[in-house]
Amino acid sequence: MKEIFTHHMRTHTCGELRVAHIGTRATLCGWVHRRRDHGGLIFIDLRDRWGLTQVVFNPQIAPGTHTAAEGLRNEYVIAVAGTVRERPEGTENPKLATGAVEMVAEELTVFSRSQPPPFSIEIDEEVGEEVRLKYRYLDLRRPALQQALELRHRVMIETRNYFDSNGFLEIETPILTKSTPEGARDYLVPSRTQPGSFFALPQSPQLLKQLLMIGGMERYFQICKCFRDEDLRADRQPEFTQIDMEMSFVREEDIFSVVEGLMARVFKAAAGVELAIPFPRMTHEEALDRFGTDKPDCRFGLELKDMTELLRGTAFKSFDSAIVAGGRVKGMAVPGGGSFSRSKLDELTRMAVQCGAKGLAWFKVRADGLESPIAKFFNAGQLSGMRQGLGGAEGDLLLLVADRLAMVNACLSMIRCHLGRELSLMEQKGFNLLWVIDFPLFVYNEEEKRFESEHHPFTAPRDEDIQLLESNPLAVRSSSYDLVLNGYEIASGSVRIHDEALQHTIFRLLKLDENIIRERFGFFLEAFRYGVPPHAGIAIGLDRLVMIMAGRESIREVIGFPKTQKASCLMTGSPSPVSPEQLKELSIKIVEE
Ligand code: AMO
Repeated sequence: MKEIFTHHMRTHTCGELRVAHIGTRATLCGWVHRRRDHGGLIFIDLRDRWGLTQVVFNPQIAPGTHTAAEGLRNEYVIAVAGTVRERPEGTENPKLATGAVEMVAEELTVFSRSQPPPFSIEIDEEVGEEVRLKYRYLDLRRPALQQALELRHRVMIETRNYFDSNGFLEIETPILTKSTPEGARDYLVPSRTQPGSFFALPQSPQLLKQLLMIGGMERYFQICKCFRDEDLRADRQPEFTQIDMEMSFVREEDIFSVVEGLMARVFKAAAGVELAIPFPRMTHEEALDRFGTDKPDCRFGLELKDMTELLRGTAFKSFDSAIVAGGRVKGMAVPGGGSFSRSKLDELTRMAVQCGAKGLAWFKVRADGLESPIAKFFNAGQLSGMRQGLGGAEGDLLLLVADRLAMVNACLSMIRCHLGRELSLMEQKGFNLLWVIDFPLFVYNEEEKRFESEHHPFTAPRDEDIQLLESNPLAVRSSSYDLVLNGYEIASGSVRIHDEALQHTIFRLLKLDENIIRERFGFFLEAFRYGVPPHAGIAIGLDRLVMIMAGRESIREVIGFPKTQKASCLMTGSPSPVSPEQLKELSIKIVEE
């Protein structure tokens, strides 16, 4: 680290002293990481963000300082001045960057004391997440979070430099704004000056970045906060960060190459990994056929095969009735799964049922045929057809689900990922990136009996499918794309509609009421009357990207101050009630349930 400012409190960091410093005087600042008394000597490992240095307090050298050091406890914040010396032979610590030297303390300043922390910073022990979140500032002192946040910082810096060197401007968009539909509930902020009116926090800067294109900014990016009130999971937070971008006068190919360049640079600089670009592409249809999901983890096989036609008319009632009702039967072969115990098979069945399927059919592939409690319901042709169709070899396990296609896919894809992890089937280690393209423009909402946008209502249909908009909306493909990394959707984007009439048609097909359109998007549609460039963009989920790069299981592990699954902050205790005066100012009354 080359610094260009002068320190007045410390001469070095706790990760800096080496053999070359032997004999020099130094002053270190930090936290007492660990304290040991040894035959009259007191040893302290002093810690700051850069590392640990051993400090020795010797009563012969500095008696007063030694006495003061007797009162030191873990996590006290101190400064120590002294002389750097070689560690006595046999006491070097090769695991520590500073392990060849130690500092002999001459002066000690105690800046502040610490109570014993609720969990150890010194020992890398498992600590319950609730305690870690309540005392996040203590958790931040531990290496796991420090490394994750450093990686996150590196990704952000590389991102900014990459976009800057490619002619993009980082432009901030407001946090107090109007609702932008991304499929979640809004977080609302009441206006004091206009009682009864609310700002919405942005679910994304979608409309504003499109207005920046209409405003002639051409290439925009922003590392921005987005807010969504939705069900939370390990890869979802109510407040998260996007690397958001938009470009004018481009096709989707241009977005692919800009994002591939960005990923290559970020992975190289922040993780030392060379990515092969361009990334492979797969249509949405193929992803669902082969993997049952639009975010396939392609590091391993376990591909799904459709067995519906083979099994049509089978004597096995639950398959037959699913097929008669228009459903499908799909399955996969699990290598070596023929040795799964009954309880393992029961566990997989429970997972399928929890996912919503009626059950999970299994067959063990033996030398003389398929073994299963339900084998008797299938004729010889169906049994050998299943084995061949699913590609099962002797010793494998065949798993099948019959249901509505969406259920079959959801359930098998979940089991596929579970087994991929559990059986360590990842042939390709590291990072697997692919584009999923050609999403349908609409999905049908059975409950509300209307179409919804698969991405968002500003996504352009594919040119060649525009003629199907009125006659067969569900067959219309969109010019949208997702970037998938190791089975996670890390980015999503599209070519946008730049034609006012087409945008109105989409709103009409979504059955949005004219008044609602005017009220919610009037400002946006008005801009369409003043010259809109063709434009496209994408947003990358920064938290997810860093989580995967850091090999963590939850985005909470790569966010400084994350919220719980219940969208609250255990450290600050937010959200929290406000005073009656504040409510009155905002003209808000709380209705007791
Ligand atoms: P989308 O809604 O797909 O697209 O979001 C883009 C990416 O943001 C990440 N993401 C999240 N990360 C953490 N917690 C969440 N709650 C969360 N929700 C989304 C995902 C996702 O791929 N405006 C469009 C982008 C565009 O069209 O340019 C948008 O926001 O990684």
